[in-house]
Amino acid sequence: IKKIGVLTSGGDAPGMNAAIRAVVRTAIFNKLEVVGIKQGYEGLINGDFKKMKSHDVSNIIGKGGTILRSARSQEFRTVEGRQKAYQQMLDNKIDALVVIGGDGTFSGARIFTQEHDIPVVGIPGTIDNDLYGTDYTIGYDTAINTVIDAVDKIRDTASAHNRLFFIEVMGRDAGFIALRSGIATGAEAILIPEKETHAKELQSYLEKGYKEHKSSGIVIVAEGDKSGGAYTIAKEIEKEHPEYDIRVSILGHMQRGGSPSAFDRVTASTLGVAAVEALLDDQKSIMVGLVHGDVTHVPFNKTIKNKKKVKDTYLHINEILSI
Ligand code: F6P
Repeated sequence: IKKIGVLTSGGDAPGMNAAIRAVVRTAIFNKLEVVGIKQGYEGLINGDFKKMKSHDVSNIIGKGGTILRSARSQEFRTVEGRQKAYQQMLDNKIDALVVIGGDGTFSGARIFTQEHDIPVVGIPGTIDNDLYGTDYTIGYDTAINTVIDAVDKIRDTASAHNRLFFIEVMGRDAGFIALRSGIATGAEAILIPEKETHAKELQSYLEKGYKEHKSSGIVIVAEGDKSGGAYTIAKEIEKEHPEYDIRVSILGHMQRGGSPSAFDRVTASTLGVAAVEALLDDQKSIMVGLVHGDVTHVPFNKTIKNKKKVKDTYLHINEILSI
């Protein structure tokens, strides 16, 4: 391998820049050429490349977003799109790729490595933390801290008015953000897709807590929860309990922005170094992850096909602490 490309794809996450910096500098450290690919797989197809020098990644470790920009490429989902991308790599003598993103990014990478003889290593970057084979994904810790900050503020006004708030957090298919931020903010209830929580259960729960003892109530709802989202569940509870003073707050994309936490910066730096070293070690179709603090290599196949489980410990902790 003489020249590698790096791209960010899918939903951006705080810490992606720190990962790009680590990839670029590790490549240069190992005497490789490195190009930044703009707009994820779109840029790969269109040949939107920029040669990266060490100073191109100066002062980006603390910045949110991604200097390479990101996209969810439809064209890369097609055989023709991937053929164009391969041709661009041949024309530009790019021998291998580091892709930073989530399961959509890795699914694309996996098919690409099956169709063409190109080594690809993935770095887990998504605020959702929903990738099998790694304890943490880049951006998750920062997103949790952003949510905590917002929920603490909502708690102030909820207490002032004795209100019950339904706060929706991101997590299209997973409840990791909801569960962890719910525990960290002392939420009265947490609704996640991994746990069947019917409106009735929630209601009796709220009657024990909100009605009898609490001056305010916070229910954290994961975006992907089967209840249909914060507005839907709030309406159901309102119907049963018109006496409750209910409000809804959707936190939205603020969760994806901001300067990455120390944890995300260190994770991104560790995995960025590990990704380039994995390519030098002849790895071809894997994600680098962190398990109990150690770097692991997980085949794309495995991380895509398996679903990461929420830890029962956290469900248990929440059940005890929210009475
Ligand atoms: O996967 C990250 C994520 O932020 C999800 O939590 C959310 O459902 C989705 O991306 C939103 O995607 P978009 O920014 O394309 O609307």
